[in-house]
Amino acid sequence: MTLDTVARDGLVLLGCGKMGTALLTGWLAAGLPPASVWVLEPNPTDWLKATGVHLNEALPKSPAVALVAVKPQMMGAALPALQALGNASTLFVSIAAGTSIAAFEAALGDRTPIVRTMPNTPAMVGRGITGICANTHAGAAGLTLARTLMQAVGEVVELEGEDQIDAVTAVSGSGPAYVFHLIEAMAAAGEAEGLSPEVAMKLARATVCGAGELAFRAPESAAQLRINVTSPGGTTAAALSHLMDAETGLPPLMRRAVHAAAERGKELGK
Ligand SMILES: NC(=O)c1ccc[n+]([C@@H]2O[C@H](COP(=O)([O-])OP(=O)(O)OC[C@H]3O[C@@H](n4cnc5c(N)ncnc54)[C@H](OP(=O)(O)O)[C@@H]3O)[C@@H](O)[C@H]2O)c1
Repeated sequence: MTLDTVARDGLVLLGCGKMGTALLTGWLAAGLPPASVWVLEPNPTDWLKATGVHLNEALPKSPAVALVAVKPQMMGAALPALQALGNASTLFVSIAAGTSIAAFEAALGDRTPIVRTMPNTPAMVGRGITGICANTHAGAAGLTLARTLMQAVGEVVELEGEDQIDAVTAVSGSGPAYVFHLIEAMAAAGEAEGLSPEVAMKLARATVCGAGELAFRAPESAAQLRINVTSPGGTTAAALSHLMDAETGLPPLMRRAVHAAAERGKELGK
């Protein structure tokens, strides 16, 4: 299935906040006609009103896709609007953290094709990465369609099963915050070495953005990119001897942080 099927049969978007807006922007840019999209959103932005999509109108009987982009705590109140589309051919795609496929099956019917995804906020600049998994009713066709939809805002990886979603959340879902904190920590360290707060922040931020862009574009592995900028006995090597320390460095710290996020994801999913 492609965006052509979606253009023909329609797409329903439940919730058009930050992530819903990012996705809709990507789909419209990829050529999905606004007339093929139905959005349910209690507080539409001026941008959304101007897109020309069907806004808070009656839904088509059998759209190709219903994409659920409300906060998990709003799910119970929001899902009944889509219940009539359950147990049929409409593919449900959820981007909500913490709501399991089983919970969707319980709400919509256990013959509903469902793909659960975990995107991240760089989707807002078309540079997201999304992990996806499906129930048996969605199958390969459902995964392909969900992949096409999520690729409008970045890359997609297919998971071995829903049990990997908490790990994806812990690495890439929550990951942008780790990188933002890296900027803060580098800037604070720069201040401690005598830079003004403004200059330290400018250096740290531009360095993370620039290194991210290099990692995005370069064919080399992250390890090779690191080696390429590390002269033996030089300044970078001096810093990395701390950062790469097996007991006190970044690897064990990151391991603990990611584990805490994954455990929290499991708790929230209960
Ligand atoms: N942000 C992330 O990093 C991230 C990453 C991965 C997954 N997600 C998931 O993506 C989902 C959306 O997150 P977000 O950051 O885009 O949240 P958000 O900006 O709060 O967007 C949710 C939208 O849904 C609307 N809504 C609330 N109740 C509704 C209802 N009954 N019917 C229709 N729409 C309703 C909200 O309107 P109001 O503003 O009026 O409440 C809001 O505009 C969440 O489930 C989250 O877990 C987010």
